[in-house]
Amino acid sequence: MLNRRSAAALLFCVVGFAQQKNQEPEKLAPYYPTPETIVEKMLEVGALKPGEKVFDLGSGDGRVVVMAAQKFKADATGIELDQDLWKQSMEKIKRLGLDKQARIINGDIMKQDYSSADLLTVYLLPSSNDKVRPLLEKQLKKGTRIVAHDFEFSGWTAEKVEHIEDDGEGRSHTIYLYRR
Ligand SMILES: C[S@@+](CC[C@H](N)C(=O)[O-])C[C@H]1O[C@@H](n2cnc3c(N)ncnc32)[C@H](O)[C@@H]1O
Repeated sequence: MLNRRSAAALLFCVVGFAQQKNQEPEKLAPYYPTPETIVEKMLEVGALKPGEKVFDLGSGDGRVVVMAAQKFKADATGIELDQDLWKQSMEKIKRLGLDKQARIINGDIMKQDYSSADLLTVYLLPSSNDKVRPLLEKQLKKGTRIVAHDFEFSGWTAEKVEHIEDDGEGRSHTIYLYRR
């Protein structure tokens, strides 16, 4: 028989486990799209080649995924939490006839498998890069490139840093390239 104290401890564990299982995905950044010219630069800096697998973590309206598939002929996957952005980006992919080489997962960045990736693109907040980093360190195969827009990954050394002073609309950008 359980005494009161161990029954309470057991209940606490069960509730804690249930809460953990039902944990809401964390919003790691607001929607703030990368200008198309910078998307292209990011994919160039990442040296994306035809047939390679690229993932955009938090894909917004799907512009990175679409350009990776259409212009760079890569196999592109976006992960997007927001239902409307997911729907909108999937419709764009279908409309452009890219559904064989491009797709958006309506899910949480923190719950995906990136082990097949050749290239990752990331435009999240600095604190979110800190949260994602351990997952990437665990999953990514050796040689995977990571291109981060504007916010670097602390603890990693960038192989290349490219600064764009003016994107044509008065905004400056920095692109960081890492290799695992
Ligand atoms: C700054 S925007 C970048 C959009 C796109 N990658 C680009 O560069 O144009 C960040 C995106 O991440 C999405 N996001 C935030 N947290 C997420 C999560 N946990 N899982 C999936 N997507 C997430 C947001 O909804 C938003 O669309």
